[in-house]
Order: sequence, then structure tokens, then C-alpha cells
Amino acid sequence: MTSLDDLDTPSVVVDLDVLERNVSRMAACARAAGVRLRPHAKTHKVPELGRLQLAAGAAGISLAKVGEAEVFAEAGFDDIFLAYPIVGAGKGRRLLALADRARLAIGVDGVDGASSVGEVFHAAGRRLDVLLKVDCGYHRVGVPPAEAAQAAKRIADLPGVTLRGIFTHAGHAYHATAPADVAAIARQEGEILAAAADLLRSEGLPVGEVSVGSTPTARVAMSVGGVTECRPGNYVYNDASQVSLGTCAIEDCAMTVIATVVSAPAPDRAVLDCGSKTLSSDVLRPRPGGHGWILGRTSRIASLSEEHGVVRVEPGETFRVGQRVRVLPNHACVVSNLHDRIVLVRGDRVEGEWTVAARGRVR
Ligand SMILES: Cc1ncc(COP(=O)(O)O)c(C=O)c1O
Repeated sequence: MTSLDDLDTPSVVVDLDVLERNVSRMAACARAAGVRLRPHAKTHKVPELGRLQLAAGAAGISLAKVGEAEVFAEAGFDDIFLAYPIVGAGKGRRLLALADRARLAIGVDGVDGASSVGEVFHAAGRRLDVLLKVDCGYHRVGVPPAEAAQAAKRIADLPGVTLRGIFTHAGHAYHATAPADVAAIARQEGEILAAAADLLRSEGLPVGEVSVGSTPTARVAMSVGGVTECRPGNYVYNDASQVSLGTCAIEDCAMTVIATVVSAPAPDRAVLDCGSKTLSSDVLRPRPGGHGWILGRTSRIASLSEEHGVVRVEPGETFRVGQRVRVLPNHACVVSNLHDRIVLVRGDRVEGEWTVAARGRVR
């Protein structure tokens, strides 16, 4: 199989030229800002791609789930931060089993979660590095900045854990409707975390790592003084949401879905063979607007069911049964998680495929 036209549909394809450019651009940004890059590999879940990121200069990887860490540690990754509140002795035991193979750290945002994992390490005579999550305005998880010092002190006193630093994630940037607002959120992300680090240090707490990062905020947040590490994930692929936010151009999007028109029952309606099982149901951000962009067309995918992408056909456009189209997904990270393999291309030439080895590892 050598050409895009030979692929069965729906197929998730990744253009290696675009991907490699995205990987090296972000690595160059981190180098210029003087921070460590620790890409969030939950976006792709592909060890081969993680190795490209390390080869470009990444200091390690971030992941969310213990199951993802198991896959990447097995693949030889030896520096993994789970940027997620890991809770419970069961997960603690699985992390302990990885502790000789990789330098590990987990996210925590309180004593209860931290001690549930720390006790397992303590009982084994070991310690696990933790980073305290500080809420910089997303209001998902994390302690408010004003409570960070108190929480950090209590966590640092727990047996079985070592406080490596603090981290944050400005996920609310995805709701900003103008690039200037994204930039303002990014600056706040860096400044709030750097100020929290100063406060913790003034109270005698060791804060080595000050870790920020999302794809829309990475470039600005990593350049704030005091930030030591950045964890963007989506940037390797980009997607329609990043284009909508102004983070990148369509040409910077490496992942697309090749789909076939399977029905054209009315002049204003056509159906693609990519539904929510292929594209996911994630909405376009910051403003909802269809379920992915059909490249080269103005018609949008107006609704999805599991196997159907229903296109509202704009006047002047036609979709013939059997015709193939290319769809830019709203959110590349969830698309990765839905597919066993992705096809690698350069332009129209198929170069191979990668197994999405850590897909579905939600525990
Ligand atoms: C804690 C954390 N860090 C980093 C990232 C990476 O952000 P993005 O997907 O915008 O690159 C995420 C994404 O969800 C996250 O939850």
C-alpha cells in the first residue's frame, strides 16, 4: 500500500512532515525559554512518537494514567510524570512495581490522595516524588494558590513521598475566544505558579520543579521567569480547536481522518463513514461548530451518530457516494484513544503505521 487512495476508510492518518515540524518547533521554544520540555504523551499514546520527542530534546514525558505509564515504561521510557491526581493503594502498588525502571512522579492536590499512595512506598522503604497541583484558574483540580503553602507543608511531612515541586494546567484557555485572551491566561498561568513557588520556598519548602503547560498557553507560559518545565501535549498533532483558538494554522495540523461518502440522500445532506466512534463527540473549542472540518469544503459535519457523520451540504457543493474526503478532527487526543493504529504519510505517500500502544489505558 503506497498511496492515500489505497487506504480503507475511515483511517486516521498523520503527516510525518507536519508532525516532525511541530515536534522540533516546540522543542526549540523550550530551549529558547530555558525550560525542560516534558510533553504530555496522553495525546498520542505512541512510544515511537515519544522517542521522537525525546530525540528532539524533551527531558521526559507526562502521562495521566498508571496504565499509560506501564506501557511507556515497558517501552523503555525512564522519566515519567503522571500529571494527574493518582489515588489509592492499588495504583500505588503498580507504581511501586515500576519504580526501579523509571524516575517517577505523580500529581497530588491534597493529603488524602498523597498518603494513599505514599503509604505503599513507605511500607516498601521507598519514596515517590510528587508535585502539588495548583489551580491557576481552570477550577478543575488543584489547590487555590493561597492554600498552596499549607497543603505543600502537610504533603512534604507525609511518609513515603518527596515533594519535587508544583504544577498547573490552564485548561480554561480552551474557552478563550480571542488569541489575546489566551495569551493573558498563559501569562497568568506562569506568574501564578512562579509566585506560588516563591511563597513555598520562603516557608522553607523545597520546590525544584515549577511545571506549566497546555498547547495554547505553552509558548507564553514557559517564558515566564521561575517556570522550569512545560507539558504541552496536543501540539504534536494540533486539530480544529487549536486552529480556532489561533494556536496554529491548518497547515500545522498533522492528524486527519480519511472518510468515504456512504450516502447522499438529499441535495443538502450527505453521510460520511466516520461517526463518534472515529471522531469522538468532543465539541469544537472555543465555540461549538460542527464535528470536524472537511478540508477544502465549507460544508460542515452537523451531527454524529456512532458510525455516521452527517454533513449539512452547503449550496454549490456536492458529495457523491464513494467520494473520499479528509476531515480535521475537533480534538486529536481523543481520536488517538479511539484507534488501534494510525497511518503515517508524507503528503500522499503512505510510509507505515504506528500502534497506539497505550490507548484505552484509563486505569
Ligand atoms: C495536567 C495536564 N497537563 C498538560 C496537558 C496538555 O495540554 P494540551 O492537550 O493542551 O497540550 C493536559 C491536557 O489535558 C493536562 O490535563
